[in-house]
Amino acid sequence: MKNLLLGIDIGTTGSKAILIDHTGEVIAQANHEYTIYIPKPNWSEQNPEDWWKATIKTIREVLKKSGIKSNQIAGIGLTGQMHGLVLLDNQKNVLRNCILWNDQRTAKECEEINKLIGEKRLIGIAGKPVLPSFTAGKILWVKKNEPEIYKKIAHILLPKDYVRFELTDNLGMDVNDASGTCLLDVAKRKWSNEIIEKLKIKKDWLPPIFESPIICGYVSRTSARLTGLTPGTPVVAGAGDQAAQAIGTGIYEPGIVSVTIGTSGVVFAAIDKYCYDKDGRLHTYCHATSDMWHLMGVMLSAGGSLRWLRDLLYKDEKIIAEKKGIDIYDLMTEEAEDTPPGADGLLFLPYLSGERTPHPDPYARGVFSGLSLKHSRPHLTRAVIEGVTFGLKDGLELLKKMGIKFTRVRVSGGGAKSRLWRQIMADVFDVDIVTVNTAQGAAYGAALLAGVGTGIYKNVKEACTKTIRETGITRPGIDTGIYQKYYNAYKALYPALKKHFRKLGNIGIMKRHV
Ligand code: XUL
Repeated sequence: MKNLLLGIDIGTTGSKAILIDHTGEVIAQANHEYTIYIPKPNWSEQNPEDWWKATIKTIREVLKKSGIKSNQIAGIGLTGQMHGLVLLDNQKNVLRNCILWNDQRTAKECEEINKLIGEKRLIGIAGKPVLPSFTAGKILWVKKNEPEIYKKIAHILLPKDYVRFELTDNLGMDVNDASGTCLLDVAKRKWSNEIIEKLKIKKDWLPPIFESPIICGYVSRTSARLTGLTPGTPVVAGAGDQAAQAIGTGIYEPGIVSVTIGTSGVVFAAIDKYCYDKDGRLHTYCHATSDMWHLMGVMLSAGGSLRWLRDLLYKDEKIIAEKKGIDIYDLMTEEAEDTPPGADGLLFLPYLSGERTPHPDPYARGVFSGLSLKHSRPHLTRAVIEGVTFGLKDGLELLKKMGIKFTRVRVSGGGAKSRLWRQIMADVFDVDIVTVNTAQGAAYGAALLAGVGTGIYKNVKEACTKTIRETGITRPGIDTGIYQKYYNAYKALYPALKKHFRKLGNIGIMKRHV
C-alpha cells in the first residue's frame, strides 16, 4: 500500500531524510553532513552540488534502514535552510556557491534596498525589512561584486529548490520560502512587481511559486536511478525550515504559539489575515497552509549561546561526558539548577552574533552584566539560559502587541528537552509550556505536507491532528514574580548599550552580523 511519506530537510549542517507512515510513526531517518565554506570572515557559502550528493546518500540510507520498497512512498516533501541565494545559468548549471542565510556581507546592499523602496513600503509588501540574512541583498551584492556572474544569471532558487530541481527537473518554490527572499508580495502570495522592477531583477529569473502542499514535480528517471526512489513519485512544494517545523509541531492555525530553541530561537504564531509589524521587528511570511500567514521572531544565538559557553567553559567535561555517554547539556543544566533564579544578580544579553528580533541590529553583542566575585561557572550557565529566555519573551511580548492571544506555548528543539529550561520558560513567560510527541523537526513537517498533497490527509489540520499530540505540561511556579523583576532589568540593558555597540563596531573591532 502506498501510504509512506518522505520528508527531506536541506539544513545548514546537513541533509536529513525521514520516512513516516500515515499515522505519523517514524520508520527510518538518516543524516549526512556537508561543508560550510567561509572564504572571508562573516561570509558563509555552500556548494549546491554537495546538498544533492548528501541527499542521495540520506535517501538511500533511509530506504535501506527501513527495508521498504520505494514504490510504497506516496509522496515527498522538501524543506530546508531559508534565504540562501542559488544562481543557475541558462543551461541550469550552478554559477557560484550559494550565499547562505547566515552570511553577513550585504549590510550596505540592504541599506540601499531599504532606501530605494522606502523601508515602510518594503515592510508593508514583503512583511519585513531587508536584512543581511535575506535573499534580496545577496542578488545586489553579486551584481556589484561579480558582474561576470550576474550577466549569466537565468534562474534564482533557494537551497531546497535546487534539490527539487535535481530530483524532478522542475524549477519551483513554495510561497513560504519565497517570503524569505523579500521579493514576494506576502499579502497577495505572488512575486512583487514593484520590488522586482525597482531592484532591476528580471522576473523570469524567479521560478513559479506554489502553495506548500501542492505537487509541483515528480521524481525523474535520472534521480530515481541515483536515489533508489521510484520514478514518478510526487514531490510537493514544501516550506522553509521554520514553517515546516511549525507544521511538524502542530502550529497550523491561530491560537497556538510556539517557541523553538535550536542554534537560533524562534517565536512563531499562525495568523489568518495578513498583518505586519510596522517597525520590522517581527516578520510576516505566508504560512505552509493555504490562506494562512505567520508571524516570526528570530533570535540568532539561542541554543547557540549555550553551545558557546559549553565550548568555552566545559571543554574537559564535554570529553568526559562523551566517554560516559552523558549529554553535556544535562550536566550544565544540573549545575545551573543549584543557583537561584536571576543567578544572584547576573544578567546575560544573548546577542553574540548581532540580533534580528527584537533588535534588528548587526552591531549588538553579548554582555554579562552584574558580574561579581561571588559568581562562578554555574551562575554564568544559568544567566545564559535565562538571558536567552528573556530574549524569547521579548518576541512573545511583540506578538501580544500585534494582538496575538495565547495562554500556552508549545516548545520544541534542543532547549525544550531540558526540564530546567522548560520551567524557566514557564516562569519567565508566565504561561503553560507544552511539549509534543514529534521531535524530528522540519523534515517531519515536510513529510506531513507531502501527505496533504497526495491526499492521505484532507488538509494540514487533519495531518497535524492525526499525528501530533501533547505529551507534557510545565506550569508557572513561585519564581514568576522574581523573574518579572529581572526581565525589567534585562530590557533596560540594550537601550543603554546600543550606541556603545555601534561605536565598537565602527572602530572595526567587531564585524557585522544580522
Ligand atoms: C529563518 C532562518 C533560519 C534558517 C536556517 O528565517 O534564518 O531558520 O532558515 O535554519
